[in-house]
Amino acid sequence: APAERLQIAACAVELIHSYSLVHDDLPAMDDDVLRRGRPTCHVEFDEATALLVGDSLQALAFELLARKDFGEQGRQLEMLRLLARASGSCGMAGGQSIDLEAVGKSLNQPELELMHALKTGALIRAAVLLGALCGAALSTGESAALDRFAKRAGLLFQVVDDILDCTASTATLGKTAGKDAAAEKPTYVSLLGLERARDFADDLRKQALEALAPFGERRQRLVELTGFITQRKF
Ligand code: IPE
Ligand code: MG
Ligand code: MG
Ligand code: MG
Repeated sequence: APAERLQIAACAVELIHSYSLVHDDLPAMDDDVLRRGRPTCHVEFDEATALLVGDSLQALAFELLARKDFGEQGRQLEMLRLLARASGSCGMAGGQSIDLEAVGKSLNQPELELMHALKTGALIRAAVLLGALCGAALSTGESAALDRFAKRAGLLFQVVDDILDCTASTATLGKTAGKDAAAEKPTYVSLLGLERARDFADDLRKQALEALAPFGERRQRLVELTGFITQRKF
């Protein structure tokens, strides 16, 4: 895939991700004061600014992806559709809604998996699929394998996030540690306990790597990414 095209797609995903975090930290949602080691947007500025920053980042993501010189327009439209769906009520925003609704409740494993798959997994899946759409066309089998990888890796990311929330320090995370238990959020740690949550993360890591098998040598970067998601300390 041409680097310039990948960069635009990556920036579009990153803009949605940043917007989701600015809103996630708002008092009406997780009420967090620290993000990436710095005051959250509404703390540094104010709530109205944080709302508008999120709105603007979201709009900018689509403006960027809709650029005139992006390349083949059928593919571009598919990428716009994928990113929109991953961000909205069937993706990130829908997952965030379930997350807030679930405060103080205990979800069963399928319910928790759905919440995580939507609030975090959907955008990671979109990142993988948008990357693939920047390059040479994949076979139907390759697309299905990549999608399976993306779904497993996306869920893995949030399971690791749940684990880090209760095992890492605020200084390392750059965000307030222990927030999930304090806010009575259902997480993989609250559902399974720490040890079984770690085992589950390891199962997901293996499933993600298995899904990459059809790609041979070409899978290397995604194998590294899976390692990074699993081993990250913050
Ligand atoms: C947030 O999940 C997911 C999105 C922003 C869509 P969390 O609430 O667990 O994320 P952190 O722990 O604040 O980073
Ligand atoms: Mg949240
Ligand atoms: Mg949060
Ligand atoms: Mg978290």
